[in-house]
Amino acid sequence: MSGEARKTAEGLTHLSGFGNEHASEAVPGALPEGRNSPQRAPLGLYAEQLSGTAFTEPRAHNRRSWLYRIRPSAAHPAFTRTENGSIRTAPFTESVPDPNRLRWNPLPEPAPGTDFLAGLWTLGGNGDATQRTGMAVHLYHATSSMERVFSDADGELLIVPELGGLLLRTEFGLLHVEPGHIALIPRGVRFRVELLDASARGYVCENYGAPFRLPDLGPIGANGLANPRDFLAPVAAYEDTEGPVEVVNKFCGTLWTATYDHSPLDVVAWHGNHVPYSYDLRRFNVLGTISYDHPDPSIFTVLTSPSDTPGLAGVDFVVFAPRWLVGEDTFRPPYFHRNVMSEYMGLIEGAYDAKTAGEGGFVPGGGSLHNMMSAHGPDRETFDRASAAELRPQKVDDGLAFMFETRWPVTLTPGAARAEHLQQGYDDVWSGLERHFRPLH
Ligand SMILES: [Fe+2]
Repeated sequence: MSGEARKTAEGLTHLSGFGNEHASEAVPGALPEGRNSPQRAPLGLYAEQLSGTAFTEPRAHNRRSWLYRIRPSAAHPAFTRTENGSIRTAPFTESVPDPNRLRWNPLPEPAPGTDFLAGLWTLGGNGDATQRTGMAVHLYHATSSMERVFSDADGELLIVPELGGLLLRTEFGLLHVEPGHIALIPRGVRFRVELLDASARGYVCENYGAPFRLPDLGPIGANGLANPRDFLAPVAAYEDTEGPVEVVNKFCGTLWTATYDHSPLDVVAWHGNHVPYSYDLRRFNVLGTISYDHPDPSIFTVLTSPSDTPGLAGVDFVVFAPRWLVGEDTFRPPYFHRNVMSEYMGLIEGAYDAKTAGEGGFVPGGGSLHNMMSAHGPDRETFDRASAAELRPQKVDDGLAFMFETRWPVTLTPGAARAEHLQQGYDDVWSGLERHFRPLH
């Protein structure tokens, strides 16, 4: 697979490994053979490199792509500041970090004509975008397709749809994602989000740090968790249009706009490994115990953004996908715990096995934040049920939840701390956990 793209029925190429080269051309002959050809690219195209890592980062981590486009990206007028809407960026300094367990209902319905960018709402985050560390948690609720084009210099965007399908028109081609899929737009890649349904809702992890990659598998071996062959990159597709196009650029936390006289989605061919991709979370190969107890949720890691400390992620993306539970002498929902890492959880569909669903609970489109060392775990009803359960093989298949787990506490935006959809009384979930201690005499 390495070095060539394989077209699938869906019009996507398999991204068979994050370090591998991939290539695609929308017009035969647009991609030069054997060289990057910046002097004279084929078909009168301009050759341009897009670097996602420093030139000199180790080969296994290096990300860059060569783009063959109708006009070079440099051909644009000056950018001017524009309104940020509800988008905020690290460092998050407007609120005091909150040790409380917090939970939100879904975002309220936005006004008609709200596109993906206008519908982005920042919950909080950590680190510093200018230092390329940390992450932000955003949610989106859109009612209209974008006509403008967006790119984010501050980080890559991991998009987790919860309601409504999305067509992402990127410089590299089209990605079609539905709830249950994820899409990743690398740092700096321009794209437009079109809605495939009346509205669209979901979550976004903006990762300022090292690009997401597949976690190492260690003793698990060569297969399991998210398998590389299930990640799909677009096939080259370009827009050859003249006329005004608004391009919005997020740079160090502020939004900047420029009106181009052509579409910047004009890449006719490309090769490289700094590319958008999608992944169907239902393809995750869930591993767990077949004896006793159960492993930490790190066993559900789909993608990780490593830091310079081995095993310590800037942020991990973790999925709680349908799975069999077969272990004996184990408490099957997540156990009570306090974690040095901070956990933002969202729900794509159904229910989560540690929380009772229902109005005012942990619902699709909502989310919870359990910051560093905050104590959490199953609610009382779940604890009682799971403690008394007969441990027969059990299929958990009624929900799809995920977690952004990050090394630093998540500080809220004032908008999230004061949101009307912030639930009051979340602590009550753990009230009524009775004492059962009976010391022996
Ligand atoms: Fe947790």
